[in-house]
Amino acid sequence: MSKKLNPHQTVLVLDFGAQYVQLIVRKVRQQHTYAEIRPAETPATRLADEWPVGIILSGGPASVYEEEAPTVDPQIFELGIPVLGICYGHQLMASVLGGNVEGGERREYGHTPVTITEPDLLLDSVESPTITWMSHGDRVTAAPKGFKTLAYSEHSPVAAMADEERRLYGVQFHPEVEHTKCGGQVLRNFLYEACGCVGDWRTESLIEETVQELRQTIGHERVLCALSGGVDSAVVAALLDRAVGEQLTCMFIDHGLLRKGEAESVINLFSERMGDRFVAIEASALFLERLQGVIDPERKREIIGETFIHTFEAEATKLGKFKFIAHGTLYPDVIESGGGKTDTIKTHHNVGGLPADMQYENLEPLRRLFKDEVRELAVDLGLPDEIVWRRPFPGPGLAIRVVGEVTPQYLEMVREADAIFREELAAANLERDISQALAVLPQIQSVGVMGDGRTYQLPIVLRAVVTNDFMTAEWARLPDELLSRTANRIVNEVRGVNRVLYDITSKPPATIEWE
Ligand code: XMP
Repeated sequence: MSKKLNPHQTVLVLDFGAQYVQLIVRKVRQQHTYAEIRPAETPATRLADEWPVGIILSGGPASVYEEEAPTVDPQIFELGIPVLGICYGHQLMASVLGGNVEGGERREYGHTPVTITEPDLLLDSVESPTITWMSHGDRVTAAPKGFKTLAYSEHSPVAAMADEERRLYGVQFHPEVEHTKCGGQVLRNFLYEACGCVGDWRTESLIEETVQELRQTIGHERVLCALSGGVDSAVVAALLDRAVGEQLTCMFIDHGLLRKGEAESVINLFSERMGDRFVAIEASALFLERLQGVIDPERKREIIGETFIHTFEAEATKLGKFKFIAHGTLYPDVIESGGGKTDTIKTHHNVGGLPADMQYENLEPLRRLFKDEVRELAVDLGLPDEIVWRRPFPGPGLAIRVVGEVTPQYLEMVREADAIFREELAAANLERDISQALAVLPQIQSVGVMGDGRTYQLPIVLRAVVTNDFMTAEWARLPDELLSRTANRIVNEVRGVNRVLYDITSKPPATIEWE
């Protein structure tokens, strides 16, 4: 994002491969300061061109002694811009500036008490000792010339350091992690005291800014926005509605794979708000027809993705000419599409997320934002709770929860079971504690007994997980009574089901969805 487009004071976070790098950005933004990620090797002059108010060097898995270890342009320490090094960033700063870094005989991992010896700017208002979260092998044993050691822990003689004159700071612990009690305070000290931040990153001003920006880009042209029922596309639509009103048309394609009541609620909400600028397309028969006989999960995903795009294009043509198409791309998508080398576990499709190479120009008004920020916008824009707090739901919908071939009957069974599970979670007031809950229908028959008769029917698998990032997840320890009531209701109310199972695998090794 160039300075011209981004009017906010900005902190740049250099990424040394830390799993926590996105978390650092989010924590900085939660302190009302805008932050973005840049590659570790970005030249200092390029960073300076963006006029950041501060630079953060993230942690990372490397050791400064490894040959291939990522490094930093040493000139960044000469820019006169405050720098905070975290973990690996702290060690790198020490090593580049002439301090001493050694391989520790003992790793420090987890909750680690840190004793403060100099409660200067960076550690101002932090109690001593304070519990921090550490995860490192190497340690800084001597701070570079010009630096003061501010704190130590059992195995880190320099757990925090500062050169006030050059405004360079380093901490061995992770201030971005919840377990570091003083993390928020340390970040605030760095941002507000060292960098001179004014706290200009607020959702209220963001709405106004985005609306202005959209108006300028769109001019008098027409915009088309695909709605999925999720919070991202709903926020995009609401922003566009404010920005250009009559020039916006929203399209909702019902692929027949949504949960119970979802299509109706999207249609009601948007047709009420947008009248005939909202178009709903009922395409479930087409999707089902294309899915007939397909059992391979990746093939199902491809078919749904392709059918969605074709339907969208065909229906859009009927609505006349549009110059722009709006996408609900978020910041993590932007970072991740930077090119990962990881295996494709499954191909994710965002229904409503369309390929960028269509014949339209793309608008991505949320591309700088994280999900929690989008939810804040949604609240400020007056969207209803059911949309703001909607749990994640996969683009290919219930099709990937019917394991094997998707038929109308199986879809109906999984849809009913899912609705019962959600109702029971809501009744137990647990919806907000569970990151995601779902029902799966594997096509295995088993013997049961109902009344006096033998049954030979299908099972429903319930799955509920708790996670922060959906990359790893723990299965949720739901109360026995809740599971028992849900199981009872499912076998009684969903025809064709005679058994209910609860999935107690974490991710990894399992994924959250079954396909
Ligand atoms: P997995 O199953 O990969 O799921 O552990 C992680 C999260 O991603 C969701 N998911 C999808 N979301 N399109 C989406 O928009 C998809 O194709 C898709 N597949 C999985 C899943 O529900 C969970 O929240």
